[in-house]
Amino acid sequence: MQVLVTGGAGFIGANFVHQTVRERPDVQVTVLDALTYAGDRASLAPVADKITLVEGSITDAALVDRLVAASDLVVHFAAESHNDNSLNDPSPFVQTNVVGTFTLLEAVRKHGVRFHHISTDEVYGDLELDDPAKFTPETPYNPSSPYSSTKAGSDLLVRAWVRSFGVQATISNCSNNYGPYQHIEKFIPRQVTNLIDGIRPRLYGAGQNVRDWIHVEDHNSAVWAIIDRGQIGETYLIGADGEKNNLEVVQTLLEIFGRPADDFDHVNDRPGHDLRYAIDASRLRNELGWTPQYTDFRSGLQATVEWYQANESWWRPAKAAVEAKYAAQGQ
Ligand code: NAD
Ligand code: DAU
Repeated sequence: MQVLVTGGAGFIGANFVHQTVRERPDVQVTVLDALTYAGDRASLAPVADKITLVEGSITDAALVDRLVAASDLVVHFAAESHNDNSLNDPSPFVQTNVVGTFTLLEAVRKHGVRFHHISTDEVYGDLELDDPAKFTPETPYNPSSPYSSTKAGSDLLVRAWVRSFGVQATISNCSNNYGPYQHIEKFIPRQVTNLIDGIRPRLYGAGQNVRDWIHVEDHNSAVWAIIDRGQIGETYLIGADGEKNNLEVVQTLLEIFGRPADDFDHVNDRPGHDLRYAIDASRLRNELGWTPQYTDFRSGLQATVEWYQANESWWRPAKAAVEAKYAAQGQ
């Protein structure tokens, strides 16, 4: 089976490629990745001799057409993925997330190739902190940021291509991932690498915003469950009941590093900052029989800390520039 993985040099995509090579010897992986600031060949180094890496953009229709024609399945991770960046410059988000997804859809339509679209729970907007509700596949779309609105747009394109053209596609909307190979601009790896460097963690606003954390390995096992057993045209929400507010996450990290519980700084809040995300993954659990393996957040976090400690050469080159960018906006 030939599988084309877009964005396979990014955080979740690289972990997906590693898991696939490890667990599915029948699968031949080709990665299509533009190697933006968020993509790194080094993230694929452990499997480099077992896969093909093509450097290029999902907006390049001729390249996409050629690669899709040679594939049995496309798993589409490639995206501009960071909310803060989308507030500074939305343009690449529209290009990659909307135009890139359109370009892939036209190719899978032409060649009759199965498509799985990776998306986010942020398409549903946010929930109140004291609301017991969770997102379900029926929750209306209500994205807040340029990032989440372009992801919502890409989801709607996929749904339209399924209905109007019979494209064989599924969609998954997952909550916040953590684990190895996550770019250090993101919340958890930023604070982990700050702590390694003796810098105090930085909390946006009061730190009360809630995210529903899932380990990246569990996200990717759910993606394979949907590819293997999901119903064409369906949307599956992926989450592992991992709700924590940002202050709790920082204090767990401080405890892992043996630092006092108040050893952090409050910094400028994110404009339009979503309050809370929470996933109801019952369709995935009940219909597809999926269960997460990383159910203890603290030990998943501890293993992630150890990965960043052991792989400083992977993240160190980006650290100073990431912190300078945040410092310029008071974060
Ligand atoms: P990431 O930013 O770490 O990686 C994105 C990858 O896409 C990079 O390798 C980058 O080089 C590549 N890319 C960007 N533009 C491209 C283009 N035009 N053509 C080809 N490749 C391009 O992102 P991530 O956190 O791994 O997220 C992967 C996917 O999962 C995204 O679609 C994101 O919306 C979704 N998602 C992420 C999370 C999360 O918590 N990180 C949660 C739910 C869904
Ligand atoms: O919910 C899924 C989404 O999760 C994905 O679609 C996105 O691609 C992914 O980046 C993530 O979005 P968030 O905006 O939730 O993740 P981020 O890591 O940027 O921030 C997590 C929370 O931590 C958020 O409430 C903002 C806060 N934060 C972030 C940073 C970088 C801080 O308090 N301090 C920080 O330094």
